[in-house]
Amino acid sequence: MYIWRKGTIVGPTFKMPFIGPFLDSMDPKFEEYNAKWKSGPLSCVSVFHKFVVIASTRDMARKVLNAPAFVKPCVVDVAEKLLRPTNWVFLDGKAHVDYRKGLNGLFTRQALETYLPRQEEVYNAYFEKFLHISQTQEGGRPAPFMPHFRELMCAVSCRTFVGYYMPDEAMKKIADDYYLITAALELVNFPIILPYTKTWYGKKAADMVLDEFAKCAAKSKVRMATGAEAICILDCWVKSMLESERYRQRIAKGEQVSAEEKPTMLIREFTDFEISQTLLTFLFASQDATSSASTWLFQLMADRPEVLDKVREENLAARNGDKNVALSMSLLEGMKYTRAVVKETLRYRPPVLMVPYLVKKAFPISDSYTVPKGAMVVPTTYPALHDPDVYPNPEYFDPERWITGDAEMHPKNWLVFGTGPHYCIGQTYAQLNLMAMIGKASMMLDWKHEVTPLSEEIKVFATIFPKDDCRLVFSQRP
Ligand code: HEM
Repeated sequence: MYIWRKGTIVGPTFKMPFIGPFLDSMDPKFEEYNAKWKSGPLSCVSVFHKFVVIASTRDMARKVLNAPAFVKPCVVDVAEKLLRPTNWVFLDGKAHVDYRKGLNGLFTRQALETYLPRQEEVYNAYFEKFLHISQTQEGGRPAPFMPHFRELMCAVSCRTFVGYYMPDEAMKKIADDYYLITAALELVNFPIILPYTKTWYGKKAADMVLDEFAKCAAKSKVRMATGAEAICILDCWVKSMLESERYRQRIAKGEQVSAEEKPTMLIREFTDFEISQTLLTFLFASQDATSSASTWLFQLMADRPEVLDKVREENLAARNGDKNVALSMSLLEGMKYTRAVVKETLRYRPPVLMVPYLVKKAFPISDSYTVPKGAMVVPTTYPALHDPDVYPNPEYFDPERWITGDAEMHPKNWLVFGTGPHYCIGQTYAQLNLMAMIGKASMMLDWKHEVTPLSEEIKVFATIFPKDDCRLVFSQRP
């Protein structure tokens, strides 16, 4: 069966009965993935019950991402169990497009501006915490900061998504337990969730997060019904539901409602559980990717003081010399160099290496090969982002390529956030958030990196991290 499905593409010549390269998938190595991508535009492996085809080149990856008639997202094998099969991200075709339209309003410029004060508050609190860890707890010695960046990103996400509806203790528990969700996210898992395995712990953690978000949804509905100001994604969504409902009632009563009074997007009312499932997808999509990006960003800046100096200079100038000036959209949008640094970080170390899709009908991906129905097909982002024809000297971290170079002229290679109907809905938010974080850090903090032989090596843990977990020392800026 395996040999028949493999057809003409590159892959092992035989498959171990049942288990396949399961041991590799338990401990995925970047070098092994990279070798696989280099082995050909299409290659395959078989793990447990799944036949997996890897699409390595830019054009193969784009072909998959733009083929909604043949494929649908599966995130990773276990995702349906964690996020629940009824989750919107697994919707397909028109149902997906319609659902997504209802969420677009949560990521407009105006909406993103609304969330900034909460984000700034979290950064201030965590930067204090980083100082305490380095100076008091660690006595000025370097310590691995990757876990702290994960906690910071979880706190930023929770405050952005659900504001103050979530108590601090719940936020801390989610940050701690989210590690269990990430640990469960292997490309392919054992098909059944067995007690006390990684997927079992992951599912329990996801259920706890769903429960907390549902409580927040109930609280937001009560508060927003009083006409309160929207301060987080949840509030903006509930507000839009209330406005849509009010409009429908007026129409039902036969009132003449002018075009200006009609909400830009008419949406239905969502239950607390539906809202919580959607917020979980936001957390799920953002947590690992932004933790990865922020870890690399702090490391890369510490190793390249001349780049950090320029970020600092730009941030101070944007604040007219006063480092305490609050974040705003216009402030962020004006920062060309900081933006280039974030883009180059995402290119150099793309957090999401692969985007697994499920083949729903036999998919003729090339003239000589058709991916069989039921297989997983996995577009890859890394090779397109390290293509020397498009990004000269691709292993060199060079923000200038986004300013004086022609990197912006190749949008087809920019696969950091995917492409096609499922491209990342949070991409603007994510990039602005990373700009805000590194800009503020440059104003408030100094940090030094202890470079080890593992610092530039890539560890795959759902997304990617430096193998030594980024050993830093933070100190207060005078
Ligand atoms: C550096 C940070 C991030 C990276 C690198 C990233 C990357 C990606 C990628 C590669 C995809 C798959 C796209 C495709 O299938 O074509 C995706 C989808 C998605 N992302 Fe992001 N993402 C990031 C941050 C975020 C944030 C902060 C949010 C939410 C607030 C978010 C929400 C989503 C959602 C909901 C989807 C699925 C969209 C759909 O199926 O329609 N992401 N992201």
